[in-house]
Amino acid sequence: MKSIQSNIKKAKGYLDKNHCIAVPTETVYGLAGNAYSDISVKKIFNLKKRPVNNPLIVHYYDINKLKKDCHINNNFKKLYRKFSPGPISFILKLKKNSKISKFVTNNQNSLAVRFPKHALFRKLLKHLNYPLAAPSANISNRLSSVQASEVKEEFGSKIKYILNGGKCKIGLESTIISLLNKPVILRFGGLDVSKIKKILKKKISIKTNLKNKISPGQFPLHYSPGIPLRMNANKSKKGEAFVLIKKRKITYKNYYYLSKKNDLQQSAKNLYSLLRKIKKDGYKMIAVEKIQNKGIGRAINDRLNRASKY
Ligand code: TXA
Ligand code: MG
Repeated sequence: MKSIQSNIKKAKGYLDKNHCIAVPTETVYGLAGNAYSDISVKKIFNLKKRPVNNPLIVHYYDINKLKKDCHINNNFKKLYRKFSPGPISFILKLKKNSKISKFVTNNQNSLAVRFPKHALFRKLLKHLNYPLAAPSANISNRLSSVQASEVKEEFGSKIKYILNGGKCKIGLESTIISLLNKPVILRFGGLDVSKIKKILKKKISIKTNLKNKISPGQFPLHYSPGIPLRMNANKSKKGEAFVLIKKRKITYKNYYYLSKKNDLQQSAKNLYSLLRKIKKDGYKMIAVEKIQNKGIGRAINDRLNRASKY
């Protein structure tokens, strides 16, 4: 207990001084900085080598803290009540007098906001008097990190502190929904779209592959393990690692299991770490067995599809 308190204090100390730190969330680790501070936000972009026109998600403790920065509407209230804190990010209209650094949004008047569920991160947010801009803790276009050791692999000593909260429960990024006009899903993620539909009781359009990309998370090159990957494979070819989601009668050396029971949640949780491991093991190509396109399986397939464009 005492160490939790002192780690939160340490984390706050760095953030107050405009440093970036890594934080655990229920989806993936974030690279966090004070969203009101130009200096902190610029550091995030530099560390990630992220194009400045790719806006960041800002993390809040609760709706009360959000109200200072964004206009809220009825769709937001319904979804917030049901799903926050949790793996959903909302695009809302930024207030004119908000203190959010203009570098967060690249001067746009909309803001992506999220209320993460991880207890340690919530404790930290509660103690701060500013929200945290936090993109996924990885170098741009690469795989997100789902444990502290992977954050370290990405950034080495370049970041001051990692608030270690263990392995992320979900393992894939949040679902993003724009609520600026009619609800639009911009990214599949940790929260199943069918659950969102049930609450809003209306059709929701899905624009995860826009031509005029408002959300660079929609760019094909995202989430790449850095080696070629193909999906819906029945068997592996020579030299490929073969990623499976259900147990085979015989297991070969190149077989890697996301799950042995066709469990989609478990597969999501294991996905990024497994792809990292395969690369470390020296494979130059990856084949992935067909994964059901339902629930979080849609988000898994979305990430694999983008990775396969490498
Ligand atoms: O689960 C998550 O959402 C993680 C954890 C750390 O919270 N964060 C995350 O952030 O995935 P990031 O930066 O890797 O992805 C955020 C996505 C980007 O694709 C960005 O383009 C999009 O959100 N985005 C941010 N602000 C936006 C806006 N105002 N309008 C449309 N898309 C936006
Ligand atoms: Mg990311």
